[in-house]
Amino acid sequence: MSDYSNIRIERADGRATVIVARPEKLNALNAETIDQLRHAFDELARDPQVRGIIVTGEGEKAFVAGADIGELARMGPIDGIDLSRRGQDAFRLLERMGKPVVAAVNGYALGGGMELALACHLRIAADNARFGLPEVKLGVIPGYGGTVRLPRIVGRGMALEMILTGEMITAQRAHEVGLVNRVVPQAEVQATAEQVLDTILKNGPVALRMALEAVDRSLETGIDEGLDMEAHLFGLLASTEDMKEGMAAFLEKRPASFSGR
Ligand code: COA
Repeated sequence: MSDYSNIRIERADGRATVIVARPEKLNALNAETIDQLRHAFDELARDPQVRGIIVTGEGEKAFVAGADIGELARMGPIDGIDLSRRGQDAFRLLERMGKPVVAAVNGYALGGGMELALACHLRIAADNARFGLPEVKLGVIPGYGGTVRLPRIVGRGMALEMILTGEMITAQRAHEVGLVNRVVPQAEVQATAEQVLDTILKNGPVALRMALEAVDRSLETGIDEGLDMEAHLFGLLASTEDMKEGMAAFLEKRPASFSGR
């Protein structure tokens, strides 16, 4: 396993928790941290021991307070494109790794930090969490997928409210608009993310991967293409050991033991 200076990875029971760990800068994402995240996501995608991921931030104040403004302030237009692409690529890798990813949002999730949470499949928020895309206050726009993913999650109107005002919203409001799946006391956010992920990981791994694929593809295409993809993935699953095991376990009234094949 690699050594990382700005992130940590903890592994237990088929889960890997990726912790962004620059608490003195509220876990802001400098270029080095983005590179480490991309490397970590690649490593975890290929590790058969890891079946699901939790992403969180170090400390009790911030999940991730955005891209590192000290670095952004020095960029020119071409650097800006490259910087945006690097963040987009890292987060896309996370989103498309075929394993479920849960964000444990333990405090401020701003700018690139909110975009990191948006690239996760589910979001569990601490009651002190705050969400916002304040980029327009700095004269830029979200550059790590925020303009693309936020409207898909909360709809165009709410997405534009957040992107155009740049104002933060509370965890409770984020829950009301469907941005987060659950809000829990700060002390319980990690345990809740683990519980939700464990519930998911009891299910057939190939089915989970195909479910992620089907939902994402249908959002990227039209209704007929989406239905076509669903039918084919559904059919493909009929060839797996996991399907045979899942159905046999139900009929034999015992818990399933999936092999992921
Ligand atoms: N980039 C770089 N440094 C950041 C940062 C960011 N996005 N967010 C916070 N920090 C740094 C602060 O500069 C400060 O560093 P210092 O102690 O060396 O001065 C440290 O983290 C603590 O932050 P501070 O602002 O003192 O905490 P606060 O409790 O007063 O405010 C926030 C918290 C989150 C409201 C405030 O830090 C903030 O607005 N951050 C920027 C958010 C943002 O615009 N992100 C989007 C970037 S595109």
